Amino acid sequence: MAVAHTEVWQQGTIAATRPLTPDIRRIEIDVPQPVRVEPGAHVDVRVTIGGEVERRSYSIVDASPDGSRISLSVYTSPVTRGGATAMNALGVGDEIEITQPLNDFPLRPGAPRYVLLAGGVGITAMAGMAESLRARNADYRLLYAGRSRPLMAYLDDLSERHGGRMSVFVRDEGTSMSVPEIVGTIQPGTEVYVCGPIRLMDAVRRAWLDRGLPIADLRMETFGNSGWFDAQEFTVRIPAIGLETKVKPNQTMLEALEHAGADMLSDCRKGECGLCEVRIAALDGEIDHRDVFYSERQRNAREKMCCCVSRVVAPAGTHAIVTIIAT
Ligand code: FES
Repeated sequence: MAVAHTEVWQQGTIAATRPLTPDIRRIEIDVPQPVRVEPGAHVDVRVTIGGEVERRSYSIVDASPDGSRISLSVYTSPVTRGGATAMNALGVGDEIEITQPLNDFPLRPGAPRYVLLAGGVGITAMAGMAESLRARNADYRLLYAGRSRPLMAYLDDLSERHGGRMSVFVRDEGTSMSVPEIVGTIQPGTEVYVCGPIRLMDAVRRAWLDRGLPIADLRMETFGNSGWFDAQEFTVRIPAIGLETKVKPNQTMLEALEHAGADMLSDCRKGECGLCEVRIAALDGEIDHRDVFYSERQRNAREKMCCCVSRVVAPAGTHAIVTIIAT
């Protein structure tokens, strides 16, 4: 659930930038006022895409000891909505509008044990947590899964820092992560933090519920850009206000509705808070639920969706249409 916070926008300056993998770039930003960065924190940035100012969220991977410089890692998805392209175009000395560190995914202190589970670029939200637990001498494990080593950002640095507390799972090496096995070994009382693709988070949630572990001990964060199906164009209609618009593959349904003039509610825009929920009157296609807000039962009901991340899909050669009830 998103935490209420007052945003303070400020002007940062790009201090350094370098590729970490073919599709992840590290960007270091000098901030005008030193900041305190808690584990799990992110910043929002303003980027100009197609002439319009939009905001994007990026986890803070690390910060300088005096808090004057923060580092982000930007992943360029195959269906980027333009934010990564704008971020990747930044060079040293360029200015960028950013918020102070915000935290919707805080690390709760005092648990007897922690497990941090990262898939792919989800490691950017976990690196700071792992470092904080290491510094506190906490009992923790860092589990990092990816497709292949060259695609896994910070792999060597993290292995060096966390040693035996870290386990690496690499699909191309035949060592994919077995979620039921991992969840099966979790001792009650352990706090588990997960960040990665929706398939990973869904598998963890299912295994967690199957074991009957307390849901309050499982914390998840999503980037909202990974789904069960490839993104495709679909149509959304709101008959009550005479609205019909197309949602392009590189656009969210929320963005398309806002662009078409609908008055929409939203907060996290990452599929976590549920504020952007829309009720469905008719559906020609299937819902690709990409949120972490709904329970399994709510997802199966096909009556509502979080339009900031979830999409509608149809079989190849057909076009999906969703009709929603005006909120
Ligand atoms: S705005 Fe939070 S789930 Fe969509």
